[in-house]
Amino acid sequence: MQLAHTMLRVRDLEKSLNFYVNFLGLREVRRKVLGDEATLVFLTDASGHYHLELTHNHDGRDYKLGSQFGHIALTTDDLDSFIRKVIAKDWWYRESKPSSTSRYIFVHDPDGYDIEILQSQSGETFAVEHANITVKSIERAVKFFECAFPTWRVRDQGESKRKWLHFGGDTDYVAIEEALIDQPLDRGEYLRPDINHIGFTVSDLAAVKSRLLGAGYREGMHVEPEEGWLRAYFFDEDGFEWEFIEYLLK
Ligand SMILES: [Fe+2]
Repeated sequence: MQLAHTMLRVRDLEKSLNFYVNFLGLREVRRKVLGDEATLVFLTDASGHYHLELTHNHDGRDYKLGSQFGHIALTTDDLDSFIRKVIAKDWWYRESKPSSTSRYIFVHDPDGYDIEILQSQSGETFAVEHANITVKSIERAVKFFECAFPTWRVRDQGESKRKWLHFGGDTDYVAIEEALIDQPLDRGEYLRPDINHIGFTVSDLAAVKSRLLGAGYREGMHVEPEEGWLRAYFFDEDGFEWEFIEYLLK
């Protein structure tokens, strides 16, 4: 199950879009006009995973703010510059007492909904963006990744000193270069200094395994299911080892 969207009824679409898009920096991804009845505008952030659906009923009806609805929260990397923007507009806001993990303020949207703007105190975040690997054959490597990750695609490719190709999704990928020198691979024992394997998180390990086994790829070390996660290791045709991990949501 994944969260999809939250719907808010707004009195004045233009004012609300000015707040959510121009001020908070969300982007409009879809608009649906339901005849004379209503206009729906879907907004999202850079990740695009979750939407805010603004509903504007054309008949000019008014609303009361409910006491059961609380607020919508957005994160920012720079709360101080956001506060400066709020002060410059002379808007009402309320600042929290900072805790060790976060600090936040509340502002109101044009309809009076509470909007929380939150900055985590650790600030910096880190993630692997890509791995760059020299393989024996780009064609064979792509064949393996296409089998494991059918929704990944060739993002970029070229040839300078040697052929290279980026294969992945929007935010992460493998950069594959083709070797000019052939030498045997031994990823089995991890005895020499080398990269042993690269691990990928997947949402359905059983599906990945069945595709790879079906295509004839060899499974490596067998790991029993563990609390919170499942793992599998596979070798591609050239002997590179890859790990696939599914985190189990509680
Ligand atoms: Fe590992």
